[in-house]
Amino acid sequence: MSWFLSNLRYVAWTALAVGLLFFIWYTLGARGYTFSDGALWEAGLRWLHVLSGIMWIGLLYYFNFVQIPNMPKIPDEQKPAIGKVIAPAALFWFRWAAMSTLIFGLLLAWNQNYLVQALTLGAADDPSFAVGKHIFIGIGMWLAIVMWFNVWFVIWPNQQKALNIDNKYPDLAADAKAKAARMAMLFSRTNTFLSVPMLVAMTGAQTLG
Ligand code: HEM
Repeated sequence: MSWFLSNLRYVAWTALAVGLLFFIWYTLGARGYTFSDGALWEAGLRWLHVLSGIMWIGLLYYFNFVQIPNMPKIPDEQKPAIGKVIAPAALFWFRWAAMSTLIFGLLLAWNQNYLVQALTLGAADDPSFAVGKHIFIGIGMWLAIVMWFNVWFVIWPNQQKALNIDNKYPDLAADAKAKAARMAMLFSRTNTFLSVPMLVAMTGAQTLG
């Protein structure tokens, strides 16, 4: 068993395959859903959406609750282990998880026929009745879209400068690097802040909306 658990690729791909088989067995087999059932796609998309969201926000919390606060305790000569190895790898999963969370989230709303209604915070609904869920999930979606924007267009480009990822900025002055690192940190902290109300809407929309 240890040969299997020691290999991350085996574990990740097998876990994905087992999840998928479980889903297919339960929906198409035991419950008799068909591919034309919207509910089948809704459940599948929700699974992939939350899986991606865990990867994204898990890494956001790692940066904010573990890496950033502990950096000052690491001796200068050991800092490159984080800056050159750990942080670039974490940023890879972080930004692509943000992208897949967004894509699966938008597909989820589209699958439930309320993408436009949610993005317009209910304004596209029939004015004679307001659909609480559209407003509520819409607020959550916009908070998460702002967070996604921060990841791709503020945090990532600034981290590329601060850590000279892929050697894109080999000659950047130390103060410009420090400024970029500060900018990335402030937006990462903003996302940590936004993640909490965002999750109120994400997790509450079905029940409270
Ligand atoms: C990036 C933009 C995002 C969009 C467009 C989006 C969209 C959605 C939509 C449409 C739903 C379905 C709500 C429903 O009908 O019940 C949903 C649910 C959910 N989302 Fe997001 N979301 C985003 C980001 C996130 C993030 C970052 C997380 C963090 C983990 C997250 C976690 C969840 C959870 C836990 C649910 C509830 C699933 C359930 O109740 O079964 N979402 N999201």
